[in-house]
Amino acid sequence: MFAIGFRCGRCGAAYGLEEVRYVCPRDGAEGTLDVVYDEAALRRALTPEVLRRHSDRSMWRYGPLLPVRSETLDRLGDAGLVQTVGWTPLIRAVRTERRLGLRGVYVKDDGRNPTGSFKDRASALVALKAIEAGAAVVTTASSGNAAAALAGMAAALGLRTVIFVPASAPAAKVAQLLIYGARVYLVEGSYDQAFDLTLAAAEAFGWYCRNTAYNPFTREGKKTAAYEIWEQLGGRAPDRVFVAVGDGNILTGLWKGFRDLAALGWIERVPALMGVQAAGAAPLARAWAEGHAAVVPVVPQTLADSIAVGRPRDATFALRAVRETGGAFLTVSDEEILAALRTLAREVGVFAEPSAAAAFAGLERAAREGRVGPDETVVVMSTGSGLKDIPAAVRAAGEPRRIPADPGAALGRLAADLGEG
Ligand SMILES: Cc1ncc(COP(=O)(O)O)c(C=O)c1O
Ligand SMILES: [Zn+2]
Repeated sequence: MFAIGFRCGRCGAAYGLEEVRYVCPRDGAEGTLDVVYDEAALRRALTPEVLRRHSDRSMWRYGPLLPVRSETLDRLGDAGLVQTVGWTPLIRAVRTERRLGLRGVYVKDDGRNPTGSFKDRASALVALKAIEAGAAVVTTASSGNAAAALAGMAAALGLRTVIFVPASAPAAKVAQLLIYGARVYLVEGSYDQAFDLTLAAAEAFGWYCRNTAYNPFTREGKKTAAYEIWEQLGGRAPDRVFVAVGDGNILTGLWKGFRDLAALGWIERVPALMGVQAAGAAPLARAWAEGHAAVVPVVPQTLADSIAVGRPRDATFALRAVRETGGAFLTVSDEEILAALRTLAREVGVFAEPSAAAAFAGLERAAREGRVGPDETVVVMSTGSGLKDIPAAVRAAGEPRRIPADPGAALGRLAADLGEG
């Protein structure tokens, strides 16, 4: 294993891997930890050529870049579900390029992960870290996807899960949790409240806690998407990446992944990261727009449930990621999200949940405002499957028409309806 320690994102303090488990003891939950690697040793052990020859088509092809022991990785052989995480398609959005006057637009369809969201990357890694920690029970707060991912991985690995999701979570996400055998609690409150409850429960009962950003390994799992984008583009980084932001941990995961590639000397420049928030849940975008780092919590109001976060837990790193890469935060309305849900499906063939479509809505807005160069290569992260939230899809697409089964009655109706005949 090449991981050698942690560094606090707030005060910069360094810790050994066994010294702390979750966050910086000095800064508490504000001090999320970054995993530090022995870069010189990594550079000796890993080359692009080694990766190219690797036959594993999943996130585990990046084993040396992950903070997990090789003996633990061997456990994956017994758990087919876990092995399939990652290596999701990067789809060229040719029709979108033409419409927006751009030359290189790609959609990374992470809805195709085993439990239908990007969160499989983080939860799979954290489940392995729970095994290394000798935990029998893993817990997490979640708006739904992170928990579904954890429950799926845990089921495959034989771990028990206790899950806290807001009572308003979409039914499909809750059904996933139940079918994987998780103990599910619908919290009578927001995601932010479920987050704090989970911390208290983990502490009281000694459970291993996956909470996003609070557990330093969520970011590490998420960074694998950056490596994949680089490989799938033929060994180069895009110029710009759009990603939906709730806690900001996918954003910081992508940043970490591209920074790793830069540290290895495999790319020259880290892409500009564009964090897209729903207008009704935009504490990071507001802090960004107002030019100061203080993030003021909000009461989230958006149909994009996965990014309905009022108190983002990876705020410090997320703001830094956007600043240091020359990116920006932007907001999109729920109407823009519903429109993007339709366009992404009809133009690219990707059926996304609202939070995932928000990233595409961000591209639409940025392109309209002239903030994307015509020659740029742009990647839009589609972070969750549309099957996660059917009522939202129906809202975006409308209801189908009814028709009699009898052709005599039906054909006349069709002719009138479609202008045929
Ligand atoms: C589909 C989807 N998109 C985006 C996000 C936002 O990720 P983060 O909270 O790390 O910013 C989530 C998080 O739940 C998600 O499930
Ligand atoms: Zn600190």
